[in-house]
Amino acid sequence: MSEKLWGGRFSSDITDDVLRYTETASVDSRMLEHDLWQNIAHVLMLGYAGINTESDTRALLAGLLEMEGTRADGGLKLDIRQEDVHLNTEFMLIERIGPVGGRMHTARSRNDQVQTDARMVTREWLLDASEELLLFAQDLLGCSEAERETVLPGYTHSQAAQPISAAFWKAAHAQALLRDAARLMDSWKRININPLGSCALAGTTFGLDRDYTSRLLGFDAPMANALDATSTRDWTVEVAASAASGAVNLSRMQEEIVTWSSNEYALVEVHDSFATGSSIMPQKKNPVVAELARGKSGRAVGALVQLLVMEKSVGLGYSCDLQEDKPVYWGALDTYLDTIRLCRRQNLQTTFNGTRGRELCWDNFSTATEIANILVSRFNTPFRTAHRFTGDLVNAALAAGHTLRDVAFTTAFLRDEHDIEISEADMRQICDPLNTLRSYISAGSTGPARVAEQQAQSLSDVAKRLTETRQMRSRLGEAKAESLRTARSVVSGESLTEFTMEVGV
Ligand code: ARG
Repeated sequence: MSEKLWGGRFSSDITDDVLRYTETASVDSRMLEHDLWQNIAHVLMLGYAGINTESDTRALLAGLLEMEGTRADGGLKLDIRQEDVHLNTEFMLIERIGPVGGRMHTARSRNDQVQTDARMVTREWLLDASEELLLFAQDLLGCSEAERETVLPGYTHSQAAQPISAAFWKAAHAQALLRDAARLMDSWKRININPLGSCALAGTTFGLDRDYTSRLLGFDAPMANALDATSTRDWTVEVAASAASGAVNLSRMQEEIVTWSSNEYALVEVHDSFATGSSIMPQKKNPVVAELARGKSGRAVGALVQLLVMEKSVGLGYSCDLQEDKPVYWGALDTYLDTIRLCRRQNLQTTFNGTRGRELCWDNFSTATEIANILVSRFNTPFRTAHRFTGDLVNAALAAGHTLRDVAFTTAFLRDEHDIEISEADMRQICDPLNTLRSYISAGSTGPARVAEQQAQSLSDVAKRLTETRQMRSRLGEAKAESLRTARSVVSGESLTEFTMEVGV
């Protein structure tokens, strides 16, 4: 006969290689804390609903509390021979308190159990990741005032386009991070619902109180349908999709850091502590954290695809295919969170070279649009005509080997070819990248006052959202504390009816 907890109908046990192929204990330790919390809530509910006696409930809770203490001290280890975390905790309980431990799994299945744990783990990750994204956005938005006038060439088509400020560039990436955080937290209402009590797939003939376990576990409500609750993994797809999109946003930001760090651009320098050298080329300083933020985004994208493929052929009702979610899903989420953290820290020590940015803007005609704008505003030229005149000017300057710095050339060209009189001093002002930057006034633009506005508005949004995130985190902490407190009071002799009158739903 098989030694497994489910071994009754088996005449022989699985071989070691089959065990290694099928177990999830090696990745499940992440759910150990949640599995014990869930066990405590379930046992309290079974006692409250009169499914287990008060004295059995006491024995079960005493064992579980002891296990939780050992876990908190780092002393509870999963054994792969027990397949997964759920059978491990049940096995350990029976080892500690004897056959009465077998009463814990009444009216529950690993199919609702694993989904309950996984949702609990995910909601903590959602809080961690969105808090880290918000803090990163806060850093980017809170950059020094001087950076509102640190000039960089802004690019379209990878070609120099118009001058922008470093603060404007940072505020742009902050907007993406804010959306990434919001996207993650939008999934909260679909994730923080309780599968527990759905049992294997069809619910149970026992009269469970699923509102009660929902409350003890910090869930908003029980899930509506047991078959759906045990089968759906669309919520992992949702989180993975948000993570993939967020990781790609970070990858785009870091792509700019890598490119701008090169000697050819020389616009950005990451701190030495975020770079490594070459084993052969002594001069090299490689921005490896930025490169890996790009490279590792592939893990989140890959996880999304893998989850979709894993699910697509599984009809309703649990199948083992679904256990393939965890290694890839958690691995991708961990990597994304590491990326957010490291990019955030790197940003605090990254310097932007505004002098170089201003030089590049002078050299690459970044302020040509401003000449056209002046023709419109001072000379009442239609914009399309102004665009043509300025295009002619750029063409002629390029042919003669000039840039917009050569104001003698540009002013003479406009006067001779188009009868437009601009003094050299004026022309120098018009084409000066810093001056241009300062003269942007439209809402949302790179003008320093407009950037200050964007920063102030988004920073107050960040502060509000950080407070909400922290409140949600503390509500989860309170739910766990309430579960443990209630369990302890039952163990110490309080009757289930008394305690349910106090805290029952
Ligand atoms: N370890 C499994 C998982 O990760 C738990 C559910 C297993 N259920 C089952 N009937 N084999 O999904």
